[in-house]
Amino acid sequence: MTPSFVPSLIVHGGAWNIPAEIIPECREGCRRALEAGWRILTSAGSSLDAVEAAIVELEDAPPFDAGFGSHLNRDGRVQLDAIIMDGQSLKSGAVAAVERIRNPIHLARRVMAGEHAMLVGAGAEQFAAEEGLPLCSPEDLILERERAAWRRCSESDHLSEFHFGHQHGTVGAVAFDTSGRIAAGTSTGGTCCKFPGRVGDSPLIGCGCYADAESGGISCTGWGEAIMKIVMAKSAADLLHAGKSPHDAAEASVALLARRAQGTGGLILLDREGHPGFAFNTPHMVFGYVAPKGEFVIQP
Ligand code: GLY
Repeated sequence: MTPSFVPSLIVHGGAWNIPAEIIPECREGCRRALEAGWRILTSAGSSLDAVEAAIVELEDAPPFDAGFGSHLNRDGRVQLDAIIMDGQSLKSGAVAAVERIRNPIHLARRVMAGEHAMLVGAGAEQFAAEEGLPLCSPEDLILERERAAWRRCSESDHLSEFHFGHQHGTVGAVAFDTSGRIAAGTSTGGTCCKFPGRVGDSPLIGCGCYADAESGGISCTGWGEAIMKIVMAKSAADLLHAGKSPHDAAEASVALLARRAQGTGGLILLDREGHPGFAFNTPHMVFGYVAPKGEFVIQP
């Protein structure tokens, strides 16, 4: 008989300075993501399906910087990045700078099933069309709140105070299924008023996401240009592989981000047996996981 493992799931909606009035909405987004992923895991579904389903919920939730409601770039357009990775095969699929895909995590999953690991821009959208995924209008990704924020930034020469409290709501999920398989994924709209074509850590294997059956699965959030410098997700995986506990590996990775790259952000992870860990050096990180008895723990 195939051994059955206890499933596990952790999700996040970004490490940032979350205004108090939207914390309930962020918590609700995490709850829906946990519900979607957990339904799959408790029906003996795969960790990849659970990660994809959880991230779709987070991409669709307005308070997060992923999918609908993402930050606008300097040109006033939304450009999305996403990745999904399978810890058994080490296969990953990623897309970057897509403008007509409502749920880029779906497209990343299709890329993973093909011969390439990453597609960007027009080529990624061409691939989506060939795969039969729906293409939306770029306008369909824009939330009025974000258009107003973009106007304020543009009219004030992009002074940092107009970005404050308004960045880094990247989303992610890591799942461990009843067959003992681990998967991770991350999705983002990137930074507010980024230069068109800018890609951060999120869709880059080892930076914004990593999954390895021999160590664990990780999804990161925060300042992409700093996270890339320390290849944060793979750094955390290496710490798990070396025997650090999930808590210590998460804390050490964020400490490394601060020390070596002067960066802010956070990460969630599951070790190779599904035990959760998390850390952040921002005022908040909104995240949730399923505790051993099946109850959802969501913070803040
Ligand atoms: N961590 C998301 C980004 O910098 O694009």
